[in-house]
Amino acid sequence: MKKKLLEVKEKALKSLSEVNDLKQLDDARIRILGKKGELTGLMKGMGKLSKEERPVIGQLANEVRSAIETELEKARKNLEERALSHRLNNEKIDVTMPGRVQKMGHRHPMSIVIDDIKNIFIGMGYEIAEGPEVEDAYYNFTALNIPEDHTARDEQDTFYVEGEGNFLLRTQTSPMQVRVMESRKPPIRIIAPGRVYRSDEVDATHSPIFHQLEGLVIDKGITMGDLKGALEVFAKELLGSDTKVRFRPHHFPFTEPSAEMDATCFGCGGKGCRICKDSGWIELLGCGMVHPKVLEMSGIDPSVYSGFAFGMGLERVTMQKYGINDLRLLFENDVRFLKQF
Ligand code: DAH
Repeated sequence: MKKKLLEVKEKALKSLSEVNDLKQLDDARIRILGKKGELTGLMKGMGKLSKEERPVIGQLANEVRSAIETELEKARKNLEERALSHRLNNEKIDVTMPGRVQKMGHRHPMSIVIDDIKNIFIGMGYEIAEGPEVEDAYYNFTALNIPEDHTARDEQDTFYVEGEGNFLLRTQTSPMQVRVMESRKPPIRIIAPGRVYRSDEVDATHSPIFHQLEGLVIDKGITMGDLKGALEVFAKELLGSDTKVRFRPHHFPFTEPSAEMDATCFGCGGKGCRICKDSGWIELLGCGMVHPKVLEMSGIDPSVYSGFAFGMGLERVTMQKYGINDLRLLFENDVRFLKQF
């Protein structure tokens, strides 16, 4: 019995010194100390020993067991340390490797143009006004001298909001004229850029959503001369100091008289080119003297005050400025397109 115990011990210590990973270690532990293990088997046979032998062999068996357990523990620590240092060596970070370059975003061409235009008007003393895109039909049409049964409403068909009241997606930024006149006292000098909506099919020059910029100036003694002066300065700032402008008579329900303003083409200086379709001019905006009825409906006395208004589409200016030939490119947000600006 004693010999067998020492044999088991020797064999156990030898195999423990040879284990290479935690799995092998665990296998060895089960083989030696498990329920059906070598040492366990021997100890079960102790009952057959004589009274004298039992304590001696018992003590030896305990010594063998604790020697094996100590060795098991040592081997486990060893393996764990080896595994850790293996990981540390293999998962090293090379701090001298070049980093990944972050792609920088930048402004959308529309935002660049809108900011340019805002800055020009801010420089001329205008303030920026903002208002809702879901608008009351009263502001979008009625208060702009377009009564309920007027055919001008059909020309700007839009998306109506179901439910109480008469709300729609604004078809123009012009309702901002009324909102500003209702909420402030003259002198008024504002611009109001923003999104507008019309039910329209999408193609290279049409979209159900686009941007406009509205302008409004109200004070005592404002004349068409002020309108022309302000808008000419604006055109020169935006398109270059050689730019000339011309006004063509037009009709808008909320201005009287009304006009459209063209500017000489910045691509050819007026000779004719692809940008201006050989006309030498580009159509820039609609404008006019605010209709007395509109002033009155907004709570401003037309016998004391007068003013002018203007409105322009921002997509077209942007497309002309950058030579973009398809409106859809401005909404698709394809990075390959956008990174050119
Ligand atoms: N709201 C007009 C449109 O969408 C543009 C416009 C024309 C605005 C003349 C004005 C203006 O303020 O005076 O067609």
